[in-house]
Amino acid sequence: MKPARPDKPDSIDQILFAQGFGTRRVCAGLIEAGLVRVQGAPVTDPAARFVADGLMIEVEGQPWQCRAQALVLLHKPAGYECSQKPSAWPSVMLLLPPPLRRRGVQPVGRLDQDTTGLLLLTDDGALIHRLTSPKKQVPKVYELRTDRPVDDAQVQCLLTGVVLDDDPQPVRAEGCEITGTHSLRLTLVQGKYHQVKRMLAAVGNHVVGLHRSEFGRLVLPADLAPGQWRWVEGLAAITG
Ligand code: URA
Repeated sequence: MKPARPDKPDSIDQILFAQGFGTRRVCAGLIEAGLVRVQGAPVTDPAARFVADGLMIEVEGQPWQCRAQALVLLHKPAGYECSQKPSAWPSVMLLLPPPLRRRGVQPVGRLDQDTTGLLLLTDDGALIHRLTSPKKQVPKVYELRTDRPVDDAQVQCLLTGVVLDDDPQPVRAEGCEITGTHSLRLTLVQGKYHQVKRMLAAVGNHVVGLHRSEFGRLVLPADLAPGQWRWVEGLAAITG
């Protein structure tokens, strides 16, 4: 899907194709029909050449900045699954525009159906590996609510380490603060299946609400409503 060299000129139909606007034929059709503008000017020749990276285009009136790699942050609402082929709930992919879906973006790790908050998605497999590898220790911050009161003994256990049912090695929270009688802020550097819920169960409590507020250096923007997304400017915005 991607141009071989995003910094070298490429034909506009290839650029549209690589950005996810449809097959080469569909993209050529859009261009010939006068539905594409490049840097504000109409382009009707599918063979016209441009450097893709950073190019501002408009397709059927929709402005779009071309990027070699797609990396976006979504405010995940409850009631969506991170799976590509969801079983019971709609996929988070439906919250993204068709060009991003066609580019094959995938979630960087998963959030449960009932978890809300910061979800990253990208079409860069190496980046997914970089951000989910336990060796890289990228911190994730979760705000959680419990049905039983939280106390210092639970916090100490979470910080020291608890054993989950699928691994004899204890997992511990990197940070844990009491934020209310029934709420905690937990920082984890791993991303095990249902990790927060299982860690709280291991200390005798039960999570009734879970929200991810930070991923590495990224903080979920206060003005990004549930269901909305925005571009992230590269790995440095996440890991520094
Ligand atoms: N831990 C969980 O239990 N669920 C999530 O969605 C994320 C982390």
